[in-house]
Amino acid sequence: MGNVAQKRDAEGNVNYCVSFGESPLSPMRLTIDPDIARAATLEPAFYRTEAAYAATRDRVFVRTWQWLGDLAGVAEPGSLAPRDLLPELLDEPLLLARDAEGTLRCLSNVCTHRGNILVKTPCSADHIRCGYHSRRFDLAGRMTFMPEFAAAKNFPSPADDLPNVPFAEWAGQGFAALDPAAPFADFAGDLPHRLDWLGVEGYRHDPARDRAYQIDAHWALYVENYLEGFHIPFVHPALNEVVDYGSYATELFRYSNLQRALAQPGEAAFAPPPHTPDYGQRIAAYYWWMFPNLMLNFYPWGLSVNLVQPAGVSRTRVAFRSYVGDAAAIGEGAGGALDRVEAEDEAIVEAVQRGVRSRLYRGGRYSPTRERGVHHFHRLLAEFLAAK
Ligand code: FES
Ligand SMILES: [Fe+2]
Repeated sequence: MGNVAQKRDAEGNVNYCVSFGESPLSPMRLTIDPDIARAATLEPAFYRTEAAYAATRDRVFVRTWQWLGDLAGVAEPGSLAPRDLLPELLDEPLLLARDAEGTLRCLSNVCTHRGNILVKTPCSADHIRCGYHSRRFDLAGRMTFMPEFAAAKNFPSPADDLPNVPFAEWAGQGFAALDPAAPFADFAGDLPHRLDWLGVEGYRHDPARDRAYQIDAHWALYVENYLEGFHIPFVHPALNEVVDYGSYATELFRYSNLQRALAQPGEAAFAPPPHTPDYGQRIAAYYWWMFPNLMLNFYPWGLSVNLVQPAGVSRTRVAFRSYVGDAAAIGEGAGGALDRVEAEDEAIVEAVQRGVRSRLYRGGRYSPTRERGVHHFHRLLAEFLAAK
């Protein structure tokens, strides 16, 4: 963790200065002006250093809700399914367990004796048994049996039970947070109400449409690119034919934001019902982002979940999972050519990666009309990195 100090600049604004590690880097300015018209972007040091990357892991990713995938595999009582939380960053072994009464929990998948991994593949059972020395737990995580411990004092204690990890469900999807800064409902914002009419819980996973991408760039550059439609006319000429760029709008919530664009005439679109604020509009896509690394993209054919997985200071993996609601709409509209759009985005993000490492690049400014989502993201990053 770094050291945080507050300083006031010439205009009286409080700046948080963070220096990391034993050999302090030049302190990184961690304040983003709330007024987008005056604000400057994050300092390039954020994208360059191992120290900033590690601080982001501990202060951002540990404290936010992370997507665990869908819960179809743990529908039945007695289901156990291991899940690794962000394998190349947090690499935290977790276990989804549904007990006989039907309660689903997220537990640590690490034995409380000497640390063996408990469950290695999805299975069905009425208890969890460690394969190392046979410690047993029930599906709520309570330790129920341990051989050769009769003489142990103060044993068992609550410390011998498996830790329960904060867990939330939305529309058949699971989320966990190791040390959440706020409840899941705060991170989701208006999502559950705003798009309840889509019936997302009835969508079906289509593995044939899943993708895994690797990008040679810092994870935040990928997220920033996602958070603005500003580049669509310049980077995605074909996509620009099906969405109405002029109608592109961004709504901000506390820890998430929504981008939406209207469809061009004749292109595939949602027809939102009367109880929604979008009634009467032909929406090409809803792009819902949850801080820091989850994208839920709703198209007329269904939901494309994009999970951004940091894999190093300048390497990112992105997993696409597709949930189909209306197979007849596949291939149409804004969600019709996702592979091409992704390739165009990756090329520009990798070019920006080279740019932010330049000795001559010192950060930039935001478009007040087109980059509100990027400004929101940077404000949240600065807030989390400066938090004690
Ligand atoms: S590590 Fe699990 S019983 Fe020993
Ligand atoms: Fe793009």
